[in-house]
Amino acid sequence: MKKLTCVVLGYGNRGERYSEYATVQSDELEVVGVIDPNPVRKDAAKSQFSLSEDMLFNNLEEFFNKDVQCDFVINSTMDELHYETTMALLDKGYNILLEKPVTSNAKELLDIKNKAEEKGLKVVVCHVLRYTPFYSSIKNIIDSGKIGKVVSLQLNEHVWYGHFVNAYVRGKWNNEDACGSGLLLAKCCHDTDLICWLNNITEPVAVSSFGSKAFFTEENAPKGSAKRCHECTVENCMFNAKKFEIEKDFCPMYTWGKIQKPLEDITYEEKVEFLKTSSYGECVFKTDMNIVDRQCVSVNFKNGSIATLNMIGGTSAAGRHIHVICEFGEIVGYVEQNKVIVRIFDKENIGVNEETVDFSAKVDLTKEDNSMGGHYGGDYYIMRDLVRFLNGEPTSSSTTVISDSISGHMVVYCAEKARKTSTVVFVDEFEKEVIA
Ligand SMILES: NC(=O)c1ccc[n+]([C@@H]2O[C@H](COP(=O)([O-])OP(=O)(O)OC[C@H]3O[C@@H](n4cnc5c(N)ncnc54)[C@H](O)[C@@H]3O)[C@@H](O)[C@H]2O)c1
Repeated sequence: MKKLTCVVLGYGNRGERYSEYATVQSDELEVVGVIDPNPVRKDAAKSQFSLSEDMLFNNLEEFFNKDVQCDFVINSTMDELHYETTMALLDKGYNILLEKPVTSNAKELLDIKNKAEEKGLKVVVCHVLRYTPFYSSIKNIIDSGKIGKVVSLQLNEHVWYGHFVNAYVRGKWNNEDACGSGLLLAKCCHDTDLICWLNNITEPVAVSSFGSKAFFTEENAPKGSAKRCHECTVENCMFNAKKFEIEKDFCPMYTWGKIQKPLEDITYEEKVEFLKTSSYGECVFKTDMNIVDRQCVSVNFKNGSIATLNMIGGTSAAGRHIHVICEFGEIVGYVEQNKVIVRIFDKENIGVNEETVDFSAKVDLTKEDNSMGGHYGGDYYIMRDLVRFLNGEPTSSSTTVISDSISGHMVVYCAEKARKTSTVVFVDEFEKEVIA
């Protein structure tokens, strides 16, 4: 297998994660350049991959001027930059590993797909959950046919309060106008992708959805609370910024990312000052968050199968639960537990046989051997598959080009329309409107 080369566009949290593969599997991948306007991030990449100065770029224009040859570009910029950067990279002939969500609207999604096809280039979307031992095994069981066709997919996504507050209440995904993504797109395009990918013998035809922001609202703010925590006199508030952000420090990469320093060099005093002016120091009930904190989605498929997704933000623990009901059996599990229960009808004895399948060993492998165990092993396995895919070698059924990412994103766009207009949205009509 040929060793591949890549350039990272946007060396932030995600860019760093994926490119770590070049460190742990240095025989398979080499990072040859980085494009990022942030000098701290460029320095981090430079020392991690021993890059020369002339392979550090501030923007795509500089990169294109140098005419760098590489096997693919990792596009791990923030959501609102995906469209223009991906289209520009495709124009210049690069294959791309593209972070999800692909883009915030259906027209741009189809533009990217069409451009990739027209140019004969590969765009692989970072649906990291597909690559986890947990979900890929569920897919294999379904595809084997031994429990029949899917009847119903029931998915729940509970977003833990530490993550929810830091990413979606005070964090960089809290405002759809600024980042381009609502909560369903930012957090659950993984889940809508799973719904469509696990059931891709058919296609979604209609979508409905309900949801709102009903907890992190001004009406729920404690009596007498201030807009900013450092000016607030309310005692025992669970979201007090000094305690929540500095003492607990649940998501340091998110909270302190805008301070232009390596995380380990940021002092306590700098953090206190930062909280006085940034959204991370705001009362969680008074931020400019304009996305939902709960949402449910129902999907009807062409072959009569159905799916539901419930997303709740701010729960006591993270929990992605799935219950797949098929004609002759069921699969149930929490991805956090890395195991599924498989129940198969026993026709002969008119009963049910139950088996538990444990994937912990496969996920532990990614943690212990190479520290890329994020997303339950998905961060490691997506890179492993991608290198094989671009080498023309066989991969798992998780790896597909962008055409197989369309349905999952379309379900999000239709669900958002359904929620905002209180209607049922038919996917083909929605697509026709977009193309018109
Ligand atoms: N696959 C997943 O499960 C998953 C998880 C979290 C985030 N994401 C997605 O990953 C993407 C990146 O998120 P993140 O948390 O790593 O963000 P980040 O802010 O940590 O990283 C983005 C990087 O892009 C750089 N940047 C800004 N403007 C740029 C430009 N014009 N050209 C090049 N670089 C530029 C920034 O300096 C920063 O280093 C987002 O789209 C996010 O939604 C995906």
